[in-house]
Amino acid sequence: MQAIAVFPSKKSLKLIDLPQPKPQEANDVLLRVHEVGLCGTDREISSFEYGSPPPGSDHLILGHESLAEVVEVGRGVRSLRPRDLVVAIVRRPCPHAECRACRGGRQDFCITGDYTERGIKGADGFLADYVVEDEAYLVKVPRVLADVAVLVEPLTVVTKAADQAQAIFNRLPYEPGPLRGLVLGAGPIGLLGAMVLVADGFETVVYSRDTDQSKQAQLVRSVGAKYMSSTSNPIETLAKGSGQFDVVLEAVGFAPLMLAATQMLKPNGVLALTGVPPEAATAELNVGRALRNLVLRNELVFGAVNAGRRDHLSAIRHLEQFMVLFPDSVRALITDRVALDEVPQILTEKRGIKSVVEMSRAA
Ligand code: BGC
Repeated sequence: MQAIAVFPSKKSLKLIDLPQPKPQEANDVLLRVHEVGLCGTDREISSFEYGSPPPGSDHLILGHESLAEVVEVGRGVRSLRPRDLVVAIVRRPCPHAECRACRGGRQDFCITGDYTERGIKGADGFLADYVVEDEAYLVKVPRVLADVAVLVEPLTVVTKAADQAQAIFNRLPYEPGPLRGLVLGAGPIGLLGAMVLVADGFETVVYSRDTDQSKQAQLVRSVGAKYMSSTSNPIETLAKGSGQFDVVLEAVGFAPLMLAATQMLKPNGVLALTGVPPEAATAELNVGRALRNLVLRNELVFGAVNAGRRDHLSAIRHLEQFMVLFPDSVRALITDRVALDEVPQILTEKRGIKSVVEMSRAA
């Protein structure tokens, strides 16, 4: 079978041939991969800035936004059957007894940092014709979602952030509302974030550098959110007055904007950061004012990374809701479907919104 692998020590990314994997354990599931979405993380890995091969290997098979079909199940597998469609959870627990997050099945909150992530850190990914996976890390997806279910994994980034923002709101001693939400960035995560906020009843604004005429801006408007381009609206317009938003969902990874986002909150507001800026990034901020506001206005800033099973279930529920509310907008997020051998090329260029690698067609 074929796969796409990055060889960090040789600084190369290429199509490789390797034997089809065989299930070994009772809980193993053999999967035929249908589709894999590509994202900024894959671009960073393929430019050798991030990620690591499994221990002892000189290469890492890429791909973590998966959609696959069950081919064969081990004798211990209870929840899945051949032909089921599944999305794999990316992160695997660390081995340490003291990590209560990992031991409790919540490796998305791993304390030690020694977790692995398939297709990213220390474990091969899904850009291969077949993979074997433990039942514990597979989430079944309804077949009606087959043509968009590859969006489940990126959607978990925002369902995790939005569900936690909601939990934080639950601390308020009054019923907040009507709620205003701001999404920073109109890449796939930002656009999915806008859909989540709209579906959750927020009056939603998306702010990004794409023009008002861009595909991204049209998509934002098509789900009932407002689009503001940074080309015609300076950032200060968002912080006008005393801040305008109950929830700000950041999906850019640009450090100055991430810091400036603290100025855009209403009192008691919540800022969720999901972008990952380069370590060397610096930015200026009036820290006195920002910190003063955080305290005097009960504001909260938190980071969110990776997703557990409950975030996947929330993503699937949201995707079902989106397919009733604005199905064409969801489909429009996938701007190109490409073949496996095109991946090295695709990862070096900026394409539409979301590129998806088509491995085999859902039957
Ligand atoms: C993936 C997450 C992962 C994160 C950091 C993201 O692209 O969606 O599952 O935890 O990268 O490696």
